Amino acid sequence: MDVNGRQFKKFLERREKLDKHQCEFAEKKQHAKGKLSARERIELLFDEDSFNEIDAYSRTSFTDSSFGKMVDAYGDGVIIGYGTIRGRTAFVYSQDFTVMGGSLGSVHAEKIMKIQDMALKMGAPIIGIIDSGGARIQEGVASLAGYAGIFKRNVHSSGVIPQISVIMGPAAGGAVYSPSITDFVYMTNNTSYMFVTGPNVVKEVLNEDVSFDDLGGAKVHSKKSGVAHFVYEDEENTLLGVQKLLSYLPSNNLENPPLIETPDKSSGIVEQLRDVVPDDTNKPYDVKDVINLIVDKGSFFEVAEDFAQSVVIGLARLKGRTIGILANQPKVLAGVLDIDSSTKGARFIRFCDSFNIPFLTLEDVPGFLPGVDQEHNGIIRHGAKLLYAYADATVPKITVILRKSYGGAYCVMNSKNLGGDFNFAWPTAEIAVMGPEGAVSILYRKELLESDDPAKLKKELAVKYRDEIANPYVADEKGYIDEVIDPAETRRKLIFAFEALESKHVSNPSRKHGNIPL
Ligand code: HXC
Repeated sequence: MDVNGRQFKKFLERREKLDKHQCEFAEKKQHAKGKLSARERIELLFDEDSFNEIDAYSRTSFTDSSFGKMVDAYGDGVIIGYGTIRGRTAFVYSQDFTVMGGSLGSVHAEKIMKIQDMALKMGAPIIGIIDSGGARIQEGVASLAGYAGIFKRNVHSSGVIPQISVIMGPAAGGAVYSPSITDFVYMTNNTSYMFVTGPNVVKEVLNEDVSFDDLGGAKVHSKKSGVAHFVYEDEENTLLGVQKLLSYLPSNNLENPPLIETPDKSSGIVEQLRDVVPDDTNKPYDVKDVINLIVDKGSFFEVAEDFAQSVVIGLARLKGRTIGILANQPKVLAGVLDIDSSTKGARFIRFCDSFNIPFLTLEDVPGFLPGVDQEHNGIIRHGAKLLYAYADATVPKITVILRKSYGGAYCVMNSKNLGGDFNFAWPTAEIAVMGPEGAVSILYRKELLESDDPAKLKKELAVKYRDEIANPYVADEKGYIDEVIDPAETRRKLIFAFEALESKHVSNPSRKHGNIPL
């Protein structure tokens, strides 16, 4: 080829024009807002020199709007491509807010759909970096159609390849629904927000004044709505967080999660586990201490840390193998299951089951949260999601009952008859229809009413109830618990049990799909 020839010169000119727009202009504008450019984000996310862009020169064919100027920019406001993240292939799209507010017109949408199709075909994760004002107003229905096509692909990729959304600016209107279908949503504090309709529309329709942050900032979505799973202080750390998450996951549903050489080879006794659960059964403790003592050192990666904190979920490694964990958190509302913690847990179990991630449940749960508010808002429906997710999951499933395991919550949290593969209990476990105080109040109502010292009698009866009913040994003798174990042995027992379960293969009855109580 003649590198001084006309065609090669044109090739270089185009490339220069592209670099000029995307680097200088975009960086300046984004940096002024405390954000990185679409390209800088990709460079941070991918291994050095591994990213390959495609469709860099696509341009919109829609230029006849009388409603504001259309920017005829190379790329049409989104960069798509592929490369490696920590050595493994991944696909990405990254919206460029400096081109018509990252809004989604037809070419922009076609590009995203193209990369979604590639990721699905190749069986590799896709990361969407969103910085967008939503449907491009000038392109009207073509923008809406574009979103619909993206949503359809999100749904069809769900459970086949990991899909991750990273919100790094506005995600308004149509821009919010794709992330909410994907497996995990990342946000960056102070510079990202998500809402179906912005503060202006809220003011018009409801006459309410609300700021961008209070309506849909990172704090709102990580603490209240549960839409965002991870929040970081800046974009660099957010992207590092994405890399970290991917390191636990398989590339698709046909693979197993990667096995990591772990420095933590111990499989022996962890004495400290004997001292975590307090003697007083109503005294709180931090279940994250238990998790950290069981899994490979420093491997626990919590998901949705700030949302529905009575349940803790996350990924970890056990002798280098990824596991998913759900644990009740006695430190928050005694580890109760309420609407939010049930849906948080259910969705995470579904994710792990989709991607062959064995699942560990650490149980210390007083039951489902009672009350008018919970009942009226559908704790029955939402609690059923957790039950459904556990029963439907076919990955290896192990439960360790640390302390309380009462009533419906016992059944739901991967009990033997729901499909638990190995069910262990610590000697501190209390397994029964209800807690001692509630049980003796019902069974001995008359005696307590007639007693001179009802408080003393109740205490005595509660001790008797614990000795005879609310302990792990009744369940153990009947086979509902496979083994009552010394807490210190928990890590060792789990390593052996998960290893034994590696060859587990079960399938649910054939059907189009089940009807989870959504
Ligand atoms: C076309 C848009 C746009 C859009 C922003 N821009 N949103 N252009 N379509 N949806 C353009 C602006 O005109 C402006 O162009 C540039 O992007 C930057 O926008 P600014 O408003 O100057 O930036 P900022 O102050 O940071 O505000 C960002 C914003 C705001 C909060 C995102 O632009 C905004 O509210 N946009 C509309 C958000 C929205 O309601 N979207 C919903 C669309 S309906 P210039 O030329 O001045 O640089 C929808 C339905 C889909 O998405 C339904 C599917 C289920």
